[in-house]
Amino acid sequence: LPVADTASTTQKVLDLLSSTPEIKTDEALPGVQQQDVKAALDRLASRAMVEYDTKESERVLLTKEGALIAASGSHEFKVWEAVKSKGRLPMKELGNEVGESAGVGQGKAMRNKWIKKEGEFLVSVVESVQDTARELLAQIQESKATPDAKTLADLKKRKLVTVGKVISYVARKGPKYAREIPVEVTDITADMLASGAWQTANFKPYNFKALGGGQNPGALHPLNKVRAEFRNIFFNQGFVEMPTNHFVDSGFWNFDALFVPQQHPARDMQDTFFISDPPRADRPRPDPHAEEAMAAMEESSRKLFAEPTPRPTKPRNYQEYWDGVRAVHEKGAFGSIGYRYNWSEDECLRLVLRTHTTAISTWVLHRLAEDPRPARYFSIDRVFRNESVDATHLAEFHQVEGVIADFGLTLGGLMKFLEDFFSKLGIEDLRFKPAYNPYTEPSMEIFGYHIGLGKWVEIGNSGMFRPEMLEPMGLPPNMRVYGFGLSLERPTMIRYKVSNIRELLGHKVDLKFVEEQPAVRFDKN
Ligand code: PHE
Repeated sequence: LPVADTASTTQKVLDLLSSTPEIKTDEALPGVQQQDVKAALDRLASRAMVEYDTKESERVLLTKEGALIAASGSHEFKVWEAVKSKGRLPMKELGNEVGESAGVGQGKAMRNKWIKKEGEFLVSVVESVQDTARELLAQIQESKATPDAKTLADLKKRKLVTVGKVISYVARKGPKYAREIPVEVTDITADMLASGAWQTANFKPYNFKALGGGQNPGALHPLNKVRAEFRNIFFNQGFVEMPTNHFVDSGFWNFDALFVPQQHPARDMQDTFFISDPPRADRPRPDPHAEEAMAAMEESSRKLFAEPTPRPTKPRNYQEYWDGVRAVHEKGAFGSIGYRYNWSEDECLRLVLRTHTTAISTWVLHRLAEDPRPARYFSIDRVFRNESVDATHLAEFHQVEGVIADFGLTLGGLMKFLEDFFSKLGIEDLRFKPAYNPYTEPSMEIFGYHIGLGKWVEIGNSGMFRPEMLEPMGLPPNMRVYGFGLSLERPTMIRYKVSNIRELLGHKVDLKFVEEQPAVRFDKN
């Protein structure tokens, strides 16, 4: 509302109080909105110029029907009037004469002894009537009468009136009352200090009750909040974040280097989005962008965990790696008998939207082979699968993935690690179910008892990477690597009680929902 409104209302209040000790705002300031009245009174009260009390009272208001009666008479009156003007009125014609008033009006007019029946006719028995119902409603409408409790109950039952609450204020002069708001000083100045004017200056009071303007700040998406929490958990355990900033990869990094056979169902059209242009990738080769990302990752790792600088012991040889991958698929190598099929270079170099972040882990592990040493890597980013979309599936989602490389790792160590990791999300008592991934052996699905949901839920997939995957990279045979993956959406949906994934990701997301979600801290509740 314009400031001028409050200012003029403020002045009106001061003017009125100069001649009366007390004003009732509903009577003294008719037509002024109650919120304007309150703003003006608060302004004056904060300066002790007025004091006021809030009065909540009930007011009887006419309904549409009540207002109609007040204007043109009660149903019984209309019936009597119609009968009187015709002298005798055939009963079946009453409806034509008075419309809807006929039903209620005839009975009432007869009970009032205004009319009576004579066979098929209605006749008037009085010369004049007093329409008390109309008079009462008219008086209520002009607030000249308040009906007694019994009458009020009756009028309410007949839906002629309703009772509404109205707020008004009773204001009086305060200790600092004046006809006008004195000039107010908002800032103390050096001049005022020097001259001593500050001692008598009239300072504008602070309004500690002011709500302030809406800040309309940005808000992190719930997935980003849960992602931030996962990153904390990983960083606290010495993990380094892998560079995941490309969604398109070759079949080599997404599948073949992971020992996924080319005829594996996960590779066919149903699950993988293939890229048609450009039609195929280059063979794996040194990539300046990837080098840069890798250097940044290793740098942050050195800073965070005081890791030694990697000292490459041999130059990466992509021809050797390529040949190793081909050999292990086609005829077996590194102690494995392989799959024994005709491996196709074309299939390997098809471009895909990555179906898992394990494509990134694979790339990072092949770099680790330059200087094999204990390492912990994680990533949280988007992956794509050509699935039919429903309440719990989208064609894209986010994967949380962790990889640990060390000498002498055991499956028991992975299980213990996972128990510790998930307990930080409030999930205890893990159960492991044997599973199959082409790139891990053994593989385990992870189930957890979710205390909040009170049931067992599948929460992830894990396993020890196969030598068929690690040895062609040049990692030493006594180095073990295990990994695990889960979706970011699942814990987010549980955390924020979202039952339809489309409310979380995609074009149906409600911005208000995003803005209102609190930060997340996983704890054991
Ligand atoms: N890539 C697996 C998936 O898509 C997760 C996984 C990662 C499994 C690492 C084992 C090791 O579910």
